[in-house]
Amino acid sequence: MNQDKEAALAAVRDFWNRRPCNIRHSAKPIGSNEYFDEVEARKYFVEPHIPIFAEFEKWRGKRVLEIGCGIGTDTMNFARAGAEVSAVDLSEKSLEIARYRAGVYGLHNIRFYEGNAEELSSFLPIERYDLIYSFGVIHHTPRPERVIEQLQRYCLPSTVLKVMVYHRHSWKAMEVFLRHGRGRFWSVSKLLERYSEAQTGCPVTHSYTRRSVRELLGGFAVDFVSVEHIFPYRVPDYVRHQYRMVWYFRHLPQPVFRWLEKRVGWHLCVTAHLAKGIGSGSGNGTGTS
Ligand SMILES: C[S@@+](CC[C@H](N)C(=O)[O-])C[C@H]1O[C@@H](n2cnc3c(N)ncnc32)[C@H](O)[C@@H]1O
Repeated sequence: MNQDKEAALAAVRDFWNRRPCNIRHSAKPIGSNEYFDEVEARKYFVEPHIPIFAEFEKWRGKRVLEIGCGIGTDTMNFARAGAEVSAVDLSEKSLEIARYRAGVYGLHNIRFYEGNAEELSSFLPIERYDLIYSFGVIHHTPRPERVIEQLQRYCLPSTVLKVMVYHRHSWKAMEVFLRHGRGRFWSVSKLLERYSEAQTGCPVTHSYTRRSVRELLGGFAVDFVSVEHIFPYRVPDYVRHQYRMVWYFRHLPQPVFRWLEKRVGWHLCVTAHLAKGIGSGSGNGTGTS
């Protein structure tokens, strides 16, 4: 890995160690049952498309690999539904919380792995999975295409890949452009990199179009892309756990809001499977499908 990318990866790791994703979703003491319940309730309240996309119940008795589990909200739900889960993250702090959370809920069907998903096979045994799931992760790593290449090694032809990455042609991108663009149409992706996570200061953020996500997914055939999520709340209220919509969304009829979300939402939720002839022939796989 060249030095720039190595430095970027170290910055990504530091960032998520300093502030694991969604750690402030509850004001209760971190680690308590109530804390984890509140984190989950808030996450799925603000992003109700996640359980629909993940289809937790569908994976009962199946093997699930989650890339970038963070503090494990989705991980717990796969495990609760009865899947055998392998959960990977770069951030040891996030993993520490996720591990503890699994203990709090008495979930013993999760194996946690710390490491860089761009080099997945250097620390995760090659086994086949029924589902590979990654929500809001791959766009935060310096070389997303490396992660995708690695994932192929864990696939059977029947493996389902579900990934969420950020959508460049989105309401969010337009907001960033209007606030910070000053007419620089040519640099939308740079602006998004810099400002999309402005409140949190995440060091790496890529974004994709429907077309470029297909290019990213290279060896996978895309079955379905769904566009979701416009964040409608006023940020100063939201950080105080209050949900007041910004004025222009407050009066928008719900069906119109949903219509907008499905076109210019910030989340590109992609379901795919391995393209024919790639990746499934080698290794000491133990997949169940
Ligand atoms: C926005 S959080 C999402 C966490 C979780 N998927 C969720 O939805 O709550 C991004 C996560 O990706 C992890 N991550 C970023 N780059 C990674 C990499 N190269 N390998 C493994 N994990 C990575 C971060 O440590 C962080 O926990």
